[in-house]
Amino acid sequence: MSYQSSWRSPSNIALIKYWGKKDPQLPLNPSLSFTLSECYTEMTVSAELETGFSLKVMYNGIPKPSFGQKINDFFKKLDTCYPWLKNASIVIESKNTFPHGAGIASSASAMSALALCLQSIHDDFNEKEPDDNNWFQHVSEIARLGSGSACRSVFPVAALWGKTSTVRDSHDRYAISWKEHIVPVFHTMQDAILIISDEEKSVSSSAGHQLMENHPYALSRYTAANHNLQRLMDSLEKEEGMDEFISIVESEALQLHAMMMSGATPFILIKPNTLNAIQEIWRFRKESSIPVCFTLDAGPNIHLLYPVEYATTIEKWISSRLVEFCSGGQVIFDHVGYGPVKLS
Ligand code: DP6
Repeated sequence: MSYQSSWRSPSNIALIKYWGKKDPQLPLNPSLSFTLSECYTEMTVSAELETGFSLKVMYNGIPKPSFGQKINDFFKKLDTCYPWLKNASIVIESKNTFPHGAGIASSASAMSALALCLQSIHDDFNEKEPDDNNWFQHVSEIARLGSGSACRSVFPVAALWGKTSTVRDSHDRYAISWKEHIVPVFHTMQDAILIISDEEKSVSSSAGHQLMENHPYALSRYTAANHNLQRLMDSLEKEEGMDEFISIVESEALQLHAMMMSGATPFILIKPNTLNAIQEIWRFRKESSIPVCFTLDAGPNIHLLYPVEYATTIEKWISSRLVEFCSGGQVIFDHVGYGPVKLS
């Protein structure tokens, strides 16, 4: 029997960072992210059941056996949810709207797309109609097993992942939607991604999480993340919360990289131009009073966040003062978005 499912699923950018985990891929502090819109994965999964297991992965139409290991590891965790999987021939065809390895969380969009496709195939196989809220919660839990940050990509606008005492529904196993807790100005946030370097990262996120084990500042970091989360949730609820938002988001980005630099095996992912761009962002914000701030993923690239009403001014400023710091002048313009879309 053959089944097929296609989904588009977006990347997300964490405002409060997930950095440090325990088995089975559970976070050591809660995180909160904006869901992006233009940076997404489109994936089709075809499954021929009861044939014996095989896996073929295609990326941009080209076979990519190197992606197979991570997916195989993911599938092994899904034996009980999807018993049919271990006896199926699976073909995964995937493409991204953004360059692979450009520091944009490609595992978030790819693993969430894969979880969405697998659950849709599972529903078809069991002749079940998806029921809305629980469905995405369940998919979030599956996506988490593929990549932690992927569990936040299945919700529109914003998502909270990880148990926090002030939010009853919060959970370490899955993310929940945070859309309803955000005032309109934050729904309009733009994310201009300055590609400072598109070289392969020297240390992967998974290796980085591991280095939080026995990190001398790990406990202080988890306390700070919890504290920053409470402050961020408060600021997102208020139209006048922008200044607080900016200070928390930048502090989180710098703390993430401070952790990388201060562990037993230190590493540095930012580049000189990351710092040059940050200096320019701080100069411009002071001079213009425009609410623009930056965050960083586990890489050198800068996510520039600002409300849409300043888009024209900011785009001119990027062209005149920031593009010079970007590799090949690359900037990707994205914005807070509406979550995954089922294609077929
Ligand atoms: C810095 O989700 O990529 O982007 O769970 O090992 O797949 P794995 O890690 P991943 O880590 C993301 C780290 C981060 C912060 C964040 O997205 O919260």
